[in-house]
Amino acid sequence: MSANDQLCKVASKKRDTIVSVDESTILEAVSLLKQGRLVAFPTETVYGLGADASNPEAVKQIFAAKGRPENHPLIVHIGSVEQINDWAVDIPAVVWRLAQQFWPGPLALILKKRPEVSQAVTGGQDTIALRMPDNPVALSLLKAFGGGIAAPSANRFKHISPTSANHVLEELGSAVDLILDGGSCLLGVESTILDLSSELYRLLRPGHITVSELESVLKTQLSNTNASTVRSSGMMAVHYAPLTRACLCTTDQFSETLNKLVCMKKSVGILAYRYQPTAKQPHFICMPEQSTEYAHSLYAALRELDRLKLDIILVEQPPETESWRAINDRLGKATVPIDI
Ligand code: TXA
Ligand code: MG
Repeated sequence: MSANDQLCKVASKKRDTIVSVDESTILEAVSLLKQGRLVAFPTETVYGLGADASNPEAVKQIFAAKGRPENHPLIVHIGSVEQINDWAVDIPAVVWRLAQQFWPGPLALILKKRPEVSQAVTGGQDTIALRMPDNPVALSLLKAFGGGIAAPSANRFKHISPTSANHVLEELGSAVDLILDGGSCLLGVESTILDLSSELYRLLRPGHITVSELESVLKTQLSNTNASTVRSSGMMAVHYAPLTRACLCTTDQFSETLNKLVCMKKSVGILAYRYQPTAKQPHFICMPEQSTEYAHSLYAALRELDRLKLDIILVEQPPETESWRAINDRLGKATVPIDI
């Protein structure tokens, strides 16, 4: 399939229809961005809500549309490795090796920002997050636009990130001018964030690219200090959460917990990993066994159960090995401790 075929469709609130993405819809998106408007687009992780990163007024609209505090910094998406120089200074040599190895891809790098970069994008900080996404629609848009596109996940603040164009519409409705539809996102969880802005290289958010993969390029171990003072929404305890109360439960305790909830006349949605229901369960989703497929389906599954407006979503704890780290991080943030 050619890159253009994969560009698929575009959905727009004004047209209220879904049409194929082609060069003209990419140009329409570029024109909107240049006018300071918002365009949502797919990446390999989740959908982003994009604005011209060099236009502080446009960037402010992102915060308004999401209901996100303005001091939470945004990731600037770029279409080539060389563009790092447009946004960052004092770039450590390892950045070029990381970019060569992992870009385009699900890795955001935090670097010292150039003085002229607007604080609107960095939430008032002197650092900047940069990432080159690995998705044909995103790359076409970035190449045609030429500059950086600031884009958080295209969801309301603290809610679940969108992994399809319809999720974006559900989340933001008329607050977004255009949604480029590239189908469902391949990876399904947000990028790994690596802070290289000080001498202590730190992981700020686990993602598809693991710590051991990063360390093999860095040739050093990442610092364990996590006491970041940075206002990073992905680092907050409750984030990526459905509106329904969701609780994590181990495989061992799953049946007993579920029985208790049923006895209490609670309506329960089940996100299972190994658990096999003995009787018919009306709101049951069995998740894939592999971590990559699990990640791909996770947010859509949580949304599906959330839509049912049940009393509780019971999530079975998946494995806790390294390839599951990003999933467990997001599940930890989407759930609260069970209190029955
Ligand atoms: O996969 C992704 O990274 C997606 C797609 C759209 O690229 N984007 C995404 O953006 O997840 P957002 O804003 O939802 O999450 C980015 C995280 C936030 O927790 C933000 O606070 C943090 O990155 N961040 C951005 N700039 C930062 C900075 N200068 N220092 C520390 N954290 C930063
Ligand atoms: Mg987000």
